Amino acid sequence: MTEIRRIGGRIGAEITGVDPHALPFDELNGLLLEHKALVFRGAGLDEDGQLRFAARFGELTGAHPTVPSVHGRPQILPVDGDEGIRSNVWHTDVTFVLTPPAVSTLRALVVPPYGGHTLIANSAAAYRDLPGPLREFADRLWAVHTNDYDYVRPGPTAAGAEEYRRVFTSTRYRTAHPVVRVHPGTGEPGLFIGGFAQQIVGLSNTESRDILRLLQAYVTRPENLLRVQWNPGDLVVFDNRITQHYAPDDYGDLPRVLHRVTVAGDVPAGVTGERSRIIEGDPATHYTPALSAAS
Ligand SMILES: [Fe+2]
Repeated sequence: MTEIRRIGGRIGAEITGVDPHALPFDELNGLLLEHKALVFRGAGLDEDGQLRFAARFGELTGAHPTVPSVHGRPQILPVDGDEGIRSNVWHTDVTFVLTPPAVSTLRALVVPPYGGHTLIANSAAAYRDLPGPLREFADRLWAVHTNDYDYVRPGPTAAGAEEYRRVFTSTRYRTAHPVVRVHPGTGEPGLFIGGFAQQIVGLSNTESRDILRLLQAYVTRPENLLRVQWNPGDLVVFDNRITQHYAPDDYGDLPRVLHRVTVAGDVPAGVTGERSRIIEGDPATHYTPALSAAS
């Protein structure tokens, strides 16, 4: 029997007892918009199954603008702790391009016996938490997001970290997005920042860091978080337009392998309707459909 259970006060629902393909799309999408992150326990999908599931939400992106995909699977990104990357920075996926993914899916292949969880934050709740004057201030701000910063930092098994960073930044992208993004499906405003947001337009580096730290502190409040403890075969889907996530680097050199498949998104819009713009780089049409970039 299908069971849908809230697992966080402000974000997240766990779904058991149903094949993820069997839920009618309207119900599935409604659950995602409401809860922002869905955990399908024991979904047991294979590579084709994950691709087919993600494609229910729309056209898929490539694996990543610069990082190679799983061999022979151009739309699957390996998330492998052994590769030297540990995503222990709060971020929203691929916000350095003009059209960041709308939806991200993660499927657990190998998980450590402890640790290696994924934290997911509700950035709309964070926006609502802001005191009125800060909310009005944030409404007017724009941030430049880039892939060229120290996202990839050496970890305990990071012999390849320097090489990974070279690949990650092999094409430099810089995009200006509104700090407050209005969700295209619900009209809900949320803070749209995270690790790739490195500069507030019109402010110095120091001022930008201080403002971003202040706003980011609302995103990462414990009240706004969901913590997903993985079992092999679990599938998580989150709304990348209105969440951030973080993978604690707390599993030493134990293996941890997830596969990520993402769904193409639109050009973000702020509270005035003004849309994001490219500062440097191209619309990444090798990675995400050109149609979305034109919308
Ligand atoms: Fe991510």
